[in-house]
Amino acid sequence: MRRPLIVANWKMHKSRAEAREYAETLLAALATAPTGEIELAIAPPFTALETLAGVLTGSPVALAGQNVSSMAEGAFTGEVSVSMLKDLGCRYCIVGHSERRAQHGETSADVAAKAAALLKEGLRPIICVGETQAQREAGQTEKIVAEQLAASLPAMSTPTAGEVVVAYEPIWAIGTGVTATPEQAQEVQAFLRVCLNKILGEGADRVRLQYGGSVGPDSIRSLMNQPDIDGALIGSAALDARTLETILANIQLENTSP
Ligand code: PGA
Repeated sequence: MRRPLIVANWKMHKSRAEAREYAETLLAALATAPTGEIELAIAPPFTALETLAGVLTGSPVALAGQNVSSMAEGAFTGEVSVSMLKDLGCRYCIVGHSERRAQHGETSADVAAKAAALLKEGLRPIICVGETQAQREAGQTEKIVAEQLAASLPAMSTPTAGEVVVAYEPIWAIGTGVTATPEQAQEVQAFLRVCLNKILGEGADRVRLQYGGSVGPDSIRSLMNQPDIDGALIGSAALDARTLETILANIQLENTSP
């Protein structure tokens, strides 16, 4: 049984004061409407991690980084290490988001090195893969995500596979308001599970597969209802604590409906 995982990716948004207000609003809501079996994490900018840790430590909401260096320490201006994220209480870290691949030239080999560094320190990587609109139209979706997945996964043992999360984020759906249909997402995610099986063997069933790309309160239920969608990586809609609460409530509605 894979525990559903919802991650709010704030990208480059929010001051410390805004982060605190968001976390307090969220915790107040969770006090009356707990997340149940759903695991929840927030990935703020590095600058808000400590503030969020102050509010969220001891709560069911985990902290995540949005990026990390694969290097342990040294002369790497502008970089943040795994041990620094761990020191701030992070349990997860997003690696290989398409914005980093496209805007910062990150390769799948870089992503695999970052994921390996995270696993070594006991943090859980959220490894992102996804195709562009042009690649989808050219019928290359499976080829692209299979290549990205194979090259972005670090070497790991079967038990460690349970620590790894893979997020399928079609680039054409990110920040566009165009969500993949549940069928489109499931088709690719079932394919990713087959790829994981080939790479990891029995460990593949333990890897959680998230969907990301314009997820909101209206789309979450039908997406999460798909057999190979174990959670969501949510940008714009999760910038508002109340919208995130609605998303969580809507997942649970589905879980409790007959
Ligand atoms: P979005 O972003 O929900 O705003 O599309 C998702 C992501 O980039 O992780």
